[in-house]
Amino acid sequence: MTDLNLSQLIDNKPVKLEKNGKSICVTRIGDQVFAVADTCTHSEASLSEGDVLDYKVECWLHGAEFDLRTGQAVTPPATQALEVYTVAIDGDSVTVEI
Ligand code: FES
Repeated sequence: MTDLNLSQLIDNKPVKLEKNGKSICVTRIGDQVFAVADTCTHSEASLSEGDVLDYKVECWLHGAEFDLRTGQAVTPPATQALEVYTVAIDGDSVTVEI
């Protein structure tokens, strides 16, 4: 089932996807698409409202950064990793496997 269209995703501009009761932060970088949990592990901020640079999303609230490829918290104050989801791309169809 298609969740998003690749052609509508803008490079390095995360979007929020609600699926199966979860909020997911989806980011296109070139021909790749990454999906991680949308809620910062430090507090309740939505990461899809943050900035993406160099495969990392920065939480807009206190500046924690997470690696979109692994979910790892790479900059404090967050220390806990985000859940990471597999993304399937088929032509223009983007599906987050959850
Ligand atoms: S809520 Fe994200 S760094 Fe504090």
